Amino acid sequence: MTILLTGGAGYIGSHVLLCCLEAGHAVVVLDDFSNGSPEALTRVQGLADGQVTTWHGDIRDAALLERIFARHPIEAVLHFAGLKAVGESVANPLAYYDVNVGGSVTLARAMAAAGVFRLVFSSTAAVYGDQAQMPLTETSALGQPSSPYGCSKLMVEQVLADLCAADPRWSVGVLRYFNPAGAHPSGRIGEDPRGVPANLIPYAMQVAVGRRPELAVFGNDYPTPDGTGMRDYIHVMDLALGHLAAMEHLADHTGHHIWNLGTGRGHSVLEVIRGMERVINRPLPWKLAPRRPGDTAQCWADPARAATDLGWRATRGLDEMLADHWRWQAQNPEGYQS
Ligand code: NAD
Ligand code: UFG
Repeated sequence: MTILLTGGAGYIGSHVLLCCLEAGHAVVVLDDFSNGSPEALTRVQGLADGQVTTWHGDIRDAALLERIFARHPIEAVLHFAGLKAVGESVANPLAYYDVNVGGSVTLARAMAAAGVFRLVFSSTAAVYGDQAQMPLTETSALGQPSSPYGCSKLMVEQVLADLCAADPRWSVGVLRYFNPAGAHPSGRIGEDPRGVPANLIPYAMQVAVGRRPELAVFGNDYPTPDGTGMRDYIHVMDLALGHLAAMEHLADHTGHHIWNLGTGRGHSVLEVIRGMERVINRPLPWKLAPRRPGDTAQCWADPARAATDLGWRATRGLDEMLADHWRWQAQNPEGYQS
């Protein structure tokens, strides 16, 4: 079948694109390349056969969306396009509400006009806010996300729930990602942050490759076993396969569905550093720094619902994630510009 993949040139989208092609789907990619690279699309097509049509444009462009739906027999949409930098969203909230919320509304409107009602949306564990009880289930109370970015994702979840309540033709899967990391094992595609990486693993990788002198560990006085923050890191290939499973499930399940995509295991910052050191086979320079505002002590998933409904579970652990991420980083020290 033909799938529209918004944001397909980005980190997660490019891995999902590869999995879609391997599953025999034709894919239409819509991306404005504001944070993705045409080179990622070229490389995916070097890894898998199949039909990819690329549209360079903005998800907020209603006329463009209308043309895309008129031109291609799209049956499902996987919606990744959006802005994702937590700090930037605090400085520039309007951009985040405009692209993430406004863009999703424009997309949903274009889908309905074209008679396409199957949508998978990239949400985040940030919608749970700061919680004391782990693991997080889909029925855990929603918290106050600590940034406009997290709020924008929660708003889109609500928009999509309202849409499903109003019109029974919709099948929507909201995927709450925990902490994506890793890369395709070929080392050909991976995460290519612009500017200073905001996240632990991409930052640590750039230290390892010599682009930055040392990693700052944000706080060691959290109520966790070693005092550093704990997260549920999930391999991007596991995440990608979760999208295919959700898309298939939605073919015969209407309504609004939420699935956590995580491993169910938390790892501390110090565990990640030790894992990195095993992979690069030398010490990783790091220093202790104050807590980062807005960070929570711990965050990991109960992934049982996805296992029951979708037959999906993450199979790759932290060491494999770090080894695959490192292969990408070492082969492409400057990302797609290398
Ligand atoms: P990414 O920035 O690598 O990919 C997003 C893609 O969307 C980029 O290729 C970018 O060029 C494109 N894009 C941005 N604005 C656009 C617009 N207005 N019109 C068309 N294209 C646009 O991000 P990612 O890590 O691949 O994340 C994909 C999705 O998953 C995002 O919605 C993100 O919020 C969500 N998510 C990511 C993480 C994470 O840690 N990576 C965690 C939770 C949720
Ligand atoms: N950390 C450091 N040093 C760094 C970066 C991070 O010590 O340079 C620590 C953080 O304090 C935290 C852990 O590493 O304890 C993970 O931080 P990340 O920035 O990698 O990930 P977050 O959990 O803060 O955020 C990620 C995504 C968000 C998403 C959130 C959902 O970046 O988009 O997961 O939980 F909203």
